[in-house]
Amino acid sequence: MKKTYYTLLLAGSSVAIGTMLFLANSINSRAEERKEINTSPVVKETGVESKNEAWQKYYPREYDSWKKTKSSDKIDDQIKKNPQIAVLWAGYAFSKDYNAPRGHFYAIQDVTNTLRTGAPVDAMTGPLPSACWSCKSPDVPRMMEKVGELEFFTGKWAKWGHEIVNPIGCGDCHDSKTANLTLTRPYLKKGLEASGVKLADTTHQDMRSLVCAQCHSEYYFKKTDWEDPKVTDPAKVKKTAMVVTFPWSNGLSVEEMEKYYDDIKFSDWTHQISKTPMLKAQHPDYEVFTKGIHARRGLACADCHMPYQQEGAVKYSNHQIQSPLNDVANTCLTCHQETEAEFKEVVKIKLEKKEQLAKFAMDNIAKAHLEAGEAWRLGATEDEMKDLQQDIRHAQWKWDMAVAGHGNFFHAPDETLRLLAVANEQGQTARIKLVKVLAKHGAVDYMAPDFSTKEAAQALAGVDMAKLIAEKETFKATLVQEWAKQAVANGTLDIKSREGMSSNTSYGK
Ligand code: HEC
Ligand code: HEC
Ligand code: HEC
Ligand code: HEC
Repeated sequence: MKKTYYTLLLAGSSVAIGTMLFLANSINSRAEERKEINTSPVVKETGVESKNEAWQKYYPREYDSWKKTKSSDKIDDQIKKNPQIAVLWAGYAFSKDYNAPRGHFYAIQDVTNTLRTGAPVDAMTGPLPSACWSCKSPDVPRMMEKVGELEFFTGKWAKWGHEIVNPIGCGDCHDSKTANLTLTRPYLKKGLEASGVKLADTTHQDMRSLVCAQCHSEYYFKKTDWEDPKVTDPAKVKKTAMVVTFPWSNGLSVEEMEKYYDDIKFSDWTHQISKTPMLKAQHPDYEVFTKGIHARRGLACADCHMPYQQEGAVKYSNHQIQSPLNDVANTCLTCHQETEAEFKEVVKIKLEKKEQLAKFAMDNIAKAHLEAGEAWRLGATEDEMKDLQQDIRHAQWKWDMAVAGHGNFFHAPDETLRLLAVANEQGQTARIKLVKVLAKHGAVDYMAPDFSTKEAAQALAGVDMAKLIAEKETFKATLVQEWAKQAVANGTLDIKSREGMSSNTSYGK
């Protein structure tokens, strides 16, 4: 009995060791293979070539596969799916419109169409700052080079509508002269340095994640006063930029970033119902990925999202960045030995677990906001509310960091579930404190109103959809058309590149 157990154990561990060696070898040999395939005709001698079509004739395979990100065009309305989020984001643009990410090809269309960016009537109207273009286009590094980073981040989003016209592409990740992978976003470089990384030490494998981290990372807009040396009028020399900044100087964990924001007393907005100074998490795919086993074992984003492709004698990276589950054979199964069906099932189970815990957290935190709103209405004092508002802020931050990276549940499953458990715990703590405050002000059995549909939740958040949609349609029919015309006239947009593009939104036509 005992002997069989030992034999089994031995056999079991050598299989495990064998599998691990196999995995380690395949990671190394893949990294080696990749080094050999770079060839580099010059696309542009100086500056950034932001038109993706200009790269096509030199790199047809990469271009053709990149263009296929166009096929991921489905709108997945997250507020419809989880109406709680309209309450969680009350008073903030995300309560108006929020969809799951689609293909890179749609980046410009989506930032233009979303109700979050509103309906500017000229270059000076808001609501949002120019920084909202940052992760949408290779025209961003082109313009930063042209006008300087601070000028780029000064003014409203509409200021650059006629310049930022090509969707995420070659010039975001590659040097236009050498075609080498490169970091085109200064805020990633600064964030890495602040976190203690020496840029000179980054490896080729690091770069295969860092190009993605330029955009798939948490950030905030840092208000930065500056003086423009090009301006002579003393009344206009002082400007204010909203500079994209990564909160990484304490480290990349969710608690370390939370401390960063708490220390500088930063808030993205004040919650409309609970009056809490809130944080909004933004797609922390990179940070959370680094907490998972695949990152620990040395994988990069490109290993799963840009698998190797063989075409006759030519090897290239598939640039159709998408869900790896659409191509399990070329992604997971290059390292793992199970079947495709089994892998899809494994990922599905991880997603279900996340969604279960996320629902608990969203319900609890939404109720905490509404109960706090009632407490204020009944005359609660700042002193009574301060402490529990901090619980609400921290709870929502953790929930948001867990879910705003749409792949977190797979990239770092245990970290994601931990964050949701902590979010839930902090949300409940706030609610227990609220029971007391409400009782003290005469509401012993207050029940938060219904928020189980998008309509009900948006009504609580004061969102007037009919008005927002009407204004948006006018904007799309007028200023947006002008932007495209101007870009074509400037030679920065090839209008044919937009042919056959679907125009889906969450709000109908
Ligand atoms: C989101 C970042 C990103 C974008 C956008 C992007 N690439 Fe790449 N590209 C990569 C990565 C990562 C690799 C893999 C590099 C390596 O491992 O050597 C790569 C590899 C390449 C290579 C080397 C050969 C190969 O296929 O591995 C070429 C050439 C290339 N890309 C061209 C393009 C062109 C042309 C476009 C635009 C149509 C483009 N890339 C868009 C990230 C990107
Ligand atoms: C210049 C900014 C930028 C860079 C660089 C970038 N992304 Fe994205 N990515 C985005 C944005 C923005 C979206 C959402 C686009 C939309 O919904 O319109 C997105 C969407 C995605 C999606 C969802 C695609 C789908 O069809 O559902 C995946 C997966 C993804 N990115 C992975 C990556 C990986 C991997 C890299 C690096 C190789 C990378 N991204 C580099 C900005 C970027
Ligand atoms: C070991 C493989 C693997 C690696 C490495 C990996 N991912 Fe993913 N990623 C996945 C899987 C699997 C999903 C879930 C896809 C699904 O649900 O259809 C996913 C989902 C995503 C999504 C959400 C896509 C969507 O439409 O919901 C984004 C964005 C993303 N990953 C970006 C990244 C970035 C950025 C990195 C590197 C920092 C990275 N991934 C590294 C496997 C990987
Ligand atoms: C380049 C190699 C490589 C690729 C590609 C890869 N993996 Fe992995 N995977 C690993 C390694 C290495 C480990 C860690 C094994 C260990 O040390 O226990 C791992 C662990 C896992 C685990 C167990 C840990 C966990 O998070 O639950 C799962 C599940 C998994 N991989 C699924 C996938 C899926 C799904 C894909 C495709 C989207 C994929 N892997 C792609 C190398 C890879």
